[in-house]
Amino acid sequence: MSIPKSEYLSNTWADGIFANRVLFITGGAGTIGSAQTRALVHLGANACIIGRNVEKTETAAKEIAKVRNGARVIGIGNVDVRNFDSLKAAADRCAKELGSIDYVIAGAAGNFISPISGLSPNAFKVVIDIDTLGTFNTIKATIPHLITSAAANRTPTNTAPSRLLAVSATFHYTGMPLQAHVSAAKAAVDSLIASVSLEYGPLGIAANCIAPGAIAGTEGMERLASSLQEQGEMERGVPTGRWGRVRDIADATVFLCSEAGSYVSGTTLIVDGAGWRRQGGQ
Ligand code: HXC
Repeated sequence: MSIPKSEYLSNTWADGIFANRVLFITGGAGTIGSAQTRALVHLGANACIIGRNVEKTETAAKEIAKVRNGARVIGIGNVDVRNFDSLKAAADRCAKELGSIDYVIAGAAGNFISPISGLSPNAFKVVIDIDTLGTFNTIKATIPHLITSAAANRTPTNTAPSRLLAVSATFHYTGMPLQAHVSAAKAAVDSLIASVSLEYGPLGIAANCIAPGAIAGTEGMERLASSLQEQGEMERGVPTGRWGRVRDIADATVFLCSEAGSYVSGTTLIVDGAGWRRQGGQ
C-alpha cells in the first residue's frame, strides 16, 4: 500500500515547483531520508538515493517513484559514505542519467547508545567517519555538479539555486549523555556547512543544516527511548507537546530547497518543537 501524502508533506506547496530538478541524497532509504525524497519527488523532482544495502536502497527508490507519474528515482546501493570513490561514481552516474544534480542532502548517519566508558577509540571514530567524513565526502563528490547547475539556473532574485543540506542534530548545543560520539560528529557537520556556505555561496550554492528533534518512528528515537513509558515522558518534555513527524522534516527540506528559501544559507534550521531548550533536564 502506498504511503498517503499527508504522512510526508503538508498542503503548503504547489505541485511542480521542483520540475526538472534533481535530488542526490545519502541515507535516502532511511525513515527521514525517504520522506524528504518523497516530498521533493511529489513536487516534481527526480532523485537518486544512495545507501549501503543494495536491496533496501533499490526497493525504496521504486516505492518513492510511485508518488508521481513519470518520476524517475534511481537507487544506488553498495555505497558507503566513508568511501569517497564510490560516492563520486554515484554522483557522476546520477548527473549522467538524470541530467544534473541541483539539491544534495547528506543524510547518512551512524548511531548507537553508549556511555563514554563503553566507547572504544574505534567506536568513536566510526561515527565520526560516517557522520563527519561522510558529509565531507558527499559535499566533495557532488559540488562540481551543484556548481554547474547553479551557473545554469541563477537569476537576479535566486542567486543560489543549488542547495546543499546536511542532517545534523541538537545534542551538541548542550552535550548529551550516551551520545558523546554523535554530538561531536554533528558539531563538526555544522561547522563544515558554515564553511561551505562561505566558499560556495558566490558560486550559487546555499548550504544549511536541518537539525531534527525527537522524530517518531525513527531508528534513532527507538534506540534512545526504548520503552513506551520513556517515550511518553520524552514527548511530554517537548514544549510544543508532541513528537516530531518525518513530515515536519520533509516540509523544512522543501522550504530550504524552494525559491522561498533562496536567501537562507549558512544556518541550521532546528525542527524540534523547541525540545533542545529543555534538553538535558533544563
Ligand atoms: C559501544 C559499539 C556499539 C555499541 C558498535 N560499537 N555498536 N560500541 N556500544 N552499541 C563499536 C564496535 O564494537 C566497533 O568498535 C565500532 O563500534 C564499529 O562497529 P562496526 O559494527 O564494525 O561498524 P560498522 O559495521 O561500520 O557499523 C557502524 C555502526 C552501525 C554505526 C556501528 O550501527 C551502523 O551501520 N549504523 C547505521 C545505521 C544507523 O545507525 N542509523 C541510525 C542513525 S540515527 P571496536 O573497537 O570493537 O572495533 C541518527 C540520529 C541521531 O544518527 C539522533 C537521534 C535522535
